[in-house]
Parts: sequence; structure tokens; C-alpha cells
Amino acid sequence: MGIKINEIYTGDCLKLMGEIRDNFVDLTITSPPYDDLRNYNGYSFEFERIAKELFRITKDRGIVVWVVGDRINGGYSMTSFKQALFFKQIGFQAHDVMIYKKKNTPFMRKGAYTNCYEFMFVLSKGKPKTFNALKEKTVRSGYELMPYNKRADGINKKQLGKLNKEKVKTNVWEYAVGLGGTTRDKIAFKHPAVFPEKLAEDHILSWSNEGDLVFDPMCGSGTTCKMAVLHRRNYIGCDISEEYCNIARERIKLVRSQQKLTDRKI
Ligand SMILES: C[S@@+](CC[C@H](N)C(=O)[O-])C[C@H]1O[C@@H](n2cnc3c(N)ncnc32)[C@H](O)[C@@H]1O
Repeated sequence: MGIKINEIYTGDCLKLMGEIRDNFVDLTITSPPYDDLRNYNGYSFEFERIAKELFRITKDRGIVVWVVGDRINGGYSMTSFKQALFFKQIGFQAHDVMIYKKKNTPFMRKGAYTNCYEFMFVLSKGKPKTFNALKEKTVRSGYELMPYNKRADGINKKQLGKLNKEKVKTNVWEYAVGLGGTTRDKIAFKHPAVFPEKLAEDHILSWSNEGDLVFDPMCGSGTTCKMAVLHRRNYIGCDISEEYCNIARERIKLVRSQQKLTDRKI
């Protein structure tokens, strides 16, 4: 069977990836089922085989963004770390270890601080070919005395310099979660673990360009694919659950029809 782009496939992602040729995908953004944290519609998850297949199908200088947290039961499972180290072992570079910080997290923990983050491992197959740096506003603007020429003697000279209005974002990205934060698509919440649209969007804008192929092998409610469509990238999505695939298809249909409307206005 030949794989078509811009499709959501129901089935085991290992089987689907088996049909994808080497060096095919520009960018993968995905969040696997971690430990036994959520009850999805039944799945089998063979991490090591999936990781190797991702390496094979990723283009040279392409990127995989692996969004993952740990089960906390007594202590942290550390599955996230083990997976990250495995990715390195099979040839990926750990280009960045980013944090997805949740603005509003309800999960308090007795005897420990409330966990409010997941990792976003940005894994590259060689030096990344695309980096469109996202920027954020700086807190201050105007002119300020700025230090320069700091040497071993510790003498810190200052001169008047213009502050930049914007700077490259840090690698801690914060998002509101829940309805209105994660997404406005009510239908998406039929899935138990949707990640924020903005998270997928920010990675798509950072690591890909228009026309590139974005892949999500465990796409759940289709967030990655929806945002790929919105930013005129191609996509392939896959989930083992037909119910989740139908949610993904529905969300993509909606965004495509909204896009046609705005295209008509232009
Ligand atoms: C954390 S969720 C992904 C959620 C998604 N990022 C979103 O925004 O909706 C993980 C998904 O992996 C799917 N899954 C688990 N094992 C799979 C496999 N072997 N092949 C394809 N999908 C799988 C589950 O059904 C679940 O929907």
C-alpha cells in the first residue's frame, strides 16, 4: 500500500511507519502514552521499535519533538529520561530539552511540590535544517546603561545601549490548559490527553516551513495535524483508536472549511 499525505490513518503506528520510505518526514510532533497514566481505547506501545522507525523515516537534518511526562506514584517513573537517552543511543542529537509548563494544573501532590510540566525533547537527525526562532517582547525598552568588557579583574564597565524590543524565546514554554486554553474545539475533549494547539503551532513554526511534511504517529484528537493544516504544511496522522481518528478528521475538516472562507475573503 502506498502512503498518501494529508490523511489520518487508523492503526498501529509501527505498521504505518513500515510503509513509509527512509528520509521522508521533515518534522514529527507527538506525545506517546506515558506509563499507564491515561486509559486510552486500548493500545500497544513498543517504544524502542517506534523510536528506531522514527529515526529511519525522518529526513536528514529533520526533527522529532517528543512530548512526555512521567507517572508519579510514590516517585517519578523517569520513563521520560530513559526514552530520551535511547533516542540519543540510536543516532538522534538532543538538540534541545524544552519544558512545557502548564499554567493551571490541578494535580496537587501530598508531601511534594505540584508538578506543572512535561518535557519536550527536540531530537534532530544531524544539524537542524530549519530554525525560525520565535520571539517574545522584552520587559523593558528604551536606553539603559549596559555592562561590557567584563574581564578577569571583575571591573564591569558600562555604556548606554538601546534595549531590543524583542528577544528569542527561552526554552520553557507556558500554556493554559483545558477548554479555551488547550483548544476551543469541544469535540477534542472526548480524548483524555490533548496537548495545546499553541504548543503544536509553536513547534511547527520553529522547525518547519510551508509545504513541509509534519507527522504525528500517535495523533489522538489530531492537534498536530490540525495546526499543520492551519500553517499550510502537509501532514500524516495515525492513531490506534478509530474513535480518536474520527475526532482528528472532524477537527481537520473544520479548519479546512474555515481556511476556505478566509481564502475567499483575500
Ligand atoms: C498522549 S495521546 C496523544 C494526544 C494528542 N497529542 C492530542 O493532542 O490529542 C497518545 C495517543 O497514542 C495512541 N496510541 C497508543 N499506542 C499507539 C500505537 N501503537 N499506534 C498509534 N497510536 C497509538 C493512543 O490511542 C492515544 O490517543
